[in-house]
Amino acid sequence: MRQGRKIVPLNLDCDLVGHPTFTFSLSKEAQVFASEILDDTFSLKLSIDLGPEGGHLASLHGPPDLVELFSTLQLQVRCDIVADGYNVLDQDALDTPEVSSESRGKLLEALDLCDGDRVLDLMCGSGTTSQVLLEYAEESAIGISLSMCDTHYSQLRRIDPKVREGAVDITLGDARALPYETESFDVVLLKMGLHEVPQLDQPLVMREVFRILKKGGRFIIWQLLPTTGVWQDVFTDIVRKTSMLARCESQAFNRYFPRDDQLTWLFKNAGFAEYEQIFKVDFSYSTRARLDAELAGDSSKLEILNNFARDRAPQEVRDSALWRDTGEDILLKVPACIYRTYKPL
Ligand SMILES: C[S@@+](CC[C@H](N)C(=O)[O-])C[C@H]1O[C@@H](n2cnc3c(N)ncnc32)[C@H](O)[C@@H]1O
Repeated sequence: MRQGRKIVPLNLDCDLVGHPTFTFSLSKEAQVFASEILDDTFSLKLSIDLGPEGGHLASLHGPPDLVELFSTLQLQVRCDIVADGYNVLDQDALDTPEVSSESRGKLLEALDLCDGDRVLDLMCGSGTTSQVLLEYAEESAIGISLSMCDTHYSQLRRIDPKVREGAVDITLGDARALPYETESFDVVLLKMGLHEVPQLDQPLVMREVFRILKKGGRFIIWQLLPTTGVWQDVFTDIVRKTSMLARCESQAFNRYFPRDDQLTWLFKNAGFAEYEQIFKVDFSYSTRARLDAELAGDSSKLEILNNFARDRAPQEVRDSALWRDTGEDILLKVPACIYRTYKPL
């Protein structure tokens, strides 16, 4: 049985600008080869992102032995490339929970920053959380080395110049195959990022965080965590429907919001021993707020989204999510939590 998945960077010369879906042709020989080795359990996937200066960065995902074989044989793989939401929109498709003064305090308590700490803001987006860390370090006269990493150049280029100056490096990298040395960070922060990768890839992210942390290092994760399976399915479907209406296909396909108990499993599976919940607050999701953020002001799309949500949500979810339907807007709450864990000494 093949275990695990691997990501191999590939270089593509093709100009994909303006072509959100693209098909690589597959030679006859490759078709036979692929049909023999790929089955329902294993698939290969190519994802693509716009890099600096409009270059294309692509990665092949799949079981390690197959990925190596494909790379060695330099076979062409037939695959569909979907429109990547972060390149379609010019802001985060899911508003990240605001860093209110209460959550800022709890985040800083969880981070417990010390002089000399090497800190990674993983899936940093446009750097709003990094800004909080840098401001705190300055106020408290603590010297930290802050690295920032995100897989989308479209996000990194929105980082404020002051934050850019304060960071020691800003790296275009995938959380599933991090471009950092083993045991090189004292602290890794992952805020509102884990749900961005498919369920199958979430253990890879956690293992990568474990690998790059020093022994005794801290991992702080801030994540929306639906508490039941039904709630998780309904919320994920509403977010995915929004992404499809916004033509952000990659987010619709990839996103998976883990439950609290799944996060616990992910910690353990990666090797983290103990973990504690530092903070829990209700995040308010509003369909109306998606109108400008994702649906380009198209009220017919908002109506489709609202009707979808009404059809999809059973009473038990409406009760636990404090569901409110004003006709034009549907509001629901999802727990947002900050957890802290350590890499064992
Ligand atoms: C919802 S935003 C959160 C940004 C930031 N952490 C915050 O809380 O403001 C999620 C970020 O994850 C990034 N992302 C998605 N998939 C990623 C991956 N596989 N590796 C690294 N970053 C990824 C996206 O580009 C996006 O910037």
